[in-house]
Amino acid sequence: MDAFGIDIGGSGIKGAPVDLERGRFAAERLRTPTPEESTPEAVSQIVSQLLDHFEVDASVPVGVAFPAPVHPGRPIGFMANLDQSWVGVDITAKLSEACRRPVHVVNDADAAGLAESLYGEARRHRGLVVTVTLGTGIGTALVMDGVLVPNSELGHLTMGKHGEDAERLAADSARQREDLSWKKWGKRLTKYLRLLEFYLSPEAFVIGGGVSKRHEKFFPYLEVETPVYPATLLNDAGIVGAAAFAASRR
Ligand code: BGC
Repeated sequence: MDAFGIDIGGSGIKGAPVDLERGRFAAERLRTPTPEESTPEAVSQIVSQLLDHFEVDASVPVGVAFPAPVHPGRPIGFMANLDQSWVGVDITAKLSEACRRPVHVVNDADAAGLAESLYGEARRHRGLVVTVTLGTGIGTALVMDGVLVPNSELGHLTMGKHGEDAERLAADSARQREDLSWKKWGKRLTKYLRLLEFYLSPEAFVIGGGVSKRHEKFFPYLEVETPVYPATLLNDAGIVGAAAFAASRR
């Protein structure tokens, strides 16, 4: 096994061994629903069980994609969609202790952006590529000529009449919560992507997250100048990127 990747999300915690040569799962992934009380204790236990399930040897690099800004060696300072008790926790130390080995933690959107720039569509672009993951929240990754600028957190730009958090209006969870048609949601996404386009002038957008596998439903409604591509790795990018990140830290 080259490396093992884990993606901690608002609805599921998923893990798989990763073939780093090809940027693909080396075996079928396992998904456990995120516990209702997604505390550090509960989540760490599931992460450790995933490693046990796949019998991951202690010598294998383990990477974890996490839905908050992550600064290695510093406690989590902001948490949008998991239990607030994560704030103040040094996640790298917490997970490494629970898993009885060093674990490398990276923001989930950054993991996806990294995977796309190593193995996916974004690999073909020079300049700034912005990966946007649409799920419970909105995650963003800025990759410039293949180099990640971490923790961009642009899902929390404000938009709309009342200056709402963009992810509240345009994440896939907003589409589901408000039962929006693909067209209506596509229009909201257009507004969001136009903001990013205005501030960053990227060469390309890559759209990831679970809903990216249904891209043909909403891409026709996206009206932006910048080319928009569905993530090549679809929803696997978090796991693959986390594994690649861990291997690069060894
Ligand atoms: C978090 C980001 C994360 C994104 C996607 C946002 O609410 O603040 O850190 O990347 O959701 O999970």
